[in-house]
Amino acid sequence: MSIKENRTKTTDAQAISFHYDLSNEFYELLLCENMLYTCAYYRSAEKTLENAQKDKMDLICKKLRMHSKDSYLDIGCGWGSLAIWASKHYGVNATGVTLSKEQAKWASDWIKREGLSDRCRVLHMDYRDFPLEKKFSKISAIGIIEHIGIANYPSFFKNVRNRLEDDGLFLNHGITCQKFRVETSQNDFLQKNVFPNGELDNITNIMNVMEQERWEILDVENLRLHYAKTCRDWFHNLEEHAEKIRDMVGERIYRIYRLWLVCSSTAFYRGGLGLYQVLLQKFSIKEGKYDNPSTRESIYTQ
Ligand SMILES: C[S@@+](CC[C@H](N)C(=O)[O-])C[C@H]1O[C@@H](n2cnc3c(N)ncnc32)[C@H](O)[C@@H]1O
Repeated sequence: MSIKENRTKTTDAQAISFHYDLSNEFYELLLCENMLYTCAYYRSAEKTLENAQKDKMDLICKKLRMHSKDSYLDIGCGWGSLAIWASKHYGVNATGVTLSKEQAKWASDWIKREGLSDRCRVLHMDYRDFPLEKKFSKISAIGIIEHIGIANYPSFFKNVRNRLEDDGLFLNHGITCQKFRVETSQNDFLQKNVFPNGELDNITNIMNVMEQERWEILDVENLRLHYAKTCRDWFHNLEEHAEKIRDMVGERIYRIYRLWLVCSSTAFYRGGLGLYQVLLQKFSIKEGKYDNPSTRESIYTQ
C-alpha cells in the first residue's frame, strides 16, 4: 500500500523526508542559488532561471500587497527563499514552516547569514501543528497543495483561513492535472520514486473547495508554460552538473530526476499538467473589507 493510500502525519513526514532531505548540495546544483522548487516567472524569453525566480517572488509579494507592517506566513516554505526575500525587500515579519529537517536547517543558516534573524524564521514542523493563536496578515502556500492529499483539501483551506486576519490575503500556487486525466503507470513511477504522497487535482475542484471553505477568489493566473520552461532549466542544470550529481546522489537518483524532469516539462507544455496562482480573501460581508486594486497594473508599476 502506498503512503498516499494510508496517510497519517507520520507517513507524510516520511514522504517529505524521502524527497526533500535527499541532499541540500544536490538541490543547490539543480535549482540554482535561489533554492526555489516551484515554477519561475519568465517575464521575457531571455530571462535566466535565477532572474525568473526573483521575478516570481516579486510577483507573489506584489499580489499579496506586502508592506513592512505585515506579519507573513509561508506554509511549505522550502529552503526559506520567499520568507527571506519578503523580509529583506518588503520588510515583513516572516515565518516559514517546512516538514523537511534539511530545508529548515539550511534556511536557518541562510537567515543568519543575511542578518535577518529579528524578522524572519523558518520552523521545522507540520503546518497542522503550528499554534493557532497567532494570526497573519498575509499567507502563501507555494507548491504544498501537491502534498496535501485531495481528501485533506477542506481541512487545509479551513486551517489557513483560521490563521489569517479578517482583512488579510492568501495566495495559493500549485500544480494541477487535467480534468480528463487517465491514471497511467507514470503515476506509479512518481509515487514510488519521486513524491510518495503526491496527489493532483484539477483547478475547478480545487476552487470549489476554496469556495466551500468560504474563500472569495480574487484572481486566478495560469502559469503552465512557465513551469514547462522551469523544468527544462532544471534539466539543463542536472545535465551541466551530471558528474558531480552522480557522485552526490548516485546514478539511480540522477536518472530518476532526469526522466521525471523531461516528462514533467513535456506534460506542462502539452497541458496534461497545469500551474495556477489563486489569490484569495475571506468571504464574509461582515468580516472582510474590499479594498483590492481593480486591475493588475500595480504588480508591474510599483
Ligand atoms: C515543492 S516544495 C515548495 C517549497 C517552496 N515553497 C518553494 O517555492 O520553493 C513543497 C514544500 O512543502 C512542504 N510541506 C509539504 N507538506 C507539509 C506539511 N504537512 N507541513 C509543512 N510543510 C509541508 C515541504 O517540506 C516543502 O518545503
